[in-house]
Amino acid sequence: MREQLEQLKNSALPAIQAATSEEQLQEIRVRLLGRKGELTALMKGLGLLTPEERPLVGQVVNRVRDELEAALAIALSEARLSAQTARLQSERVDVTLPGRRSTKGSKHPVTLIIEEVCEIFAGLGFSVAEGPEIEHDWYNFEALNFPPEHPARDMQDTFFVENDLLLRTHTSPVQIRTMLKQKPPLRIIAPGTVYRCDSDATHSPMFHQIEGLMVDTGISFADLKGILTVFTNQLFGQKTGVRLRPSFFPFTEPSAEVDIACVICGGKGCRVCKGSGWLEILGAGMVDPEVFRHVNYDAEDVSGFAFGMGIERIAMLKYGISDMRLLFENDVRFLRQF
Ligand code: PHE
Repeated sequence: MREQLEQLKNSALPAIQAATSEEQLQEIRVRLLGRKGELTALMKGLGLLTPEERPLVGQVVNRVRDELEAALAIALSEARLSAQTARLQSERVDVTLPGRRSTKGSKHPVTLIIEEVCEIFAGLGFSVAEGPEIEHDWYNFEALNFPPEHPARDMQDTFFVENDLLLRTHTSPVQIRTMLKQKPPLRIIAPGTVYRCDSDATHSPMFHQIEGLMVDTGISFADLKGILTVFTNQLFGQKTGVRLRPSFFPFTEPSAEVDIACVICGGKGCRVCKGSGWLEILGAGMVDPEVFRHVNYDAEDVSGFAFGMGIERIAMLKYGISDMRLLFENDVRFLRQF
């Protein structure tokens, strides 16, 4: 048996040295030391030896195995090194080539306006709230006092997902979700994406709004006008005139459209304001008691105001963009300018 071991070693070592690739060496390892390998087979023969012979031959087996393993390890690292050297020589890197410029993105104008508006309202003590874009009819319409089949729903023609699920037509459902979760006093601002069946140079089927809601004891229309004046002055510059015109929303009473003095002509009248000197930027009003009833607030105890503005419209006014569709075409030559 000792002789067989020596023979095995003497034939294996040259084979290991002759091997040139990692794969060849793995094959040799399996052939010698694997479960069905030659050395493994010899080791099984140890059991047939006498108890005196067994430890002596065992020692030889261990030595042969160690030698083979050491030879394999050396040959393996040599094979790897030479493979790597070969690769480095064939795939030379040209260090004189100019580097690849990484293109840096910029924030979308809609994002910029959302951030700016949220920051102004954060300074007035408002916190940011959010709601889902796929909304229940109840939150989007019914709790906001749009009864089923009511003609006021026509102003916000929408996309239905199924039965009473729809893509929200405004951010006003966040008012309802917030009031159901929190007790007054509260001050929130809710930016988000909204959807309507509408598409032309000034309307997009998907657009963005920011909703505001403040509820407390003794909140009046004067508070609404005060907050909106501070806000528009900060967003468009000091002393931007603010004008409220009577309007209608099912969930506010009284309701108003809020105009600012035209940011282009300063109120003298120009093409952008169609000669009127004013630009409509948001809808607002005092929260209707019917809305408070839906969220279990006591309209005798508290009052509040809400407002909602279209972000694309504000971005167009602030940055002088003439066609809303430019905001959604994702042309970097356009987007890079902001
Ligand atoms: N949700 C209304 C719209 O999208 C805007 C609005 C919000 C009006 C809050 C009043 C109060 O037209």
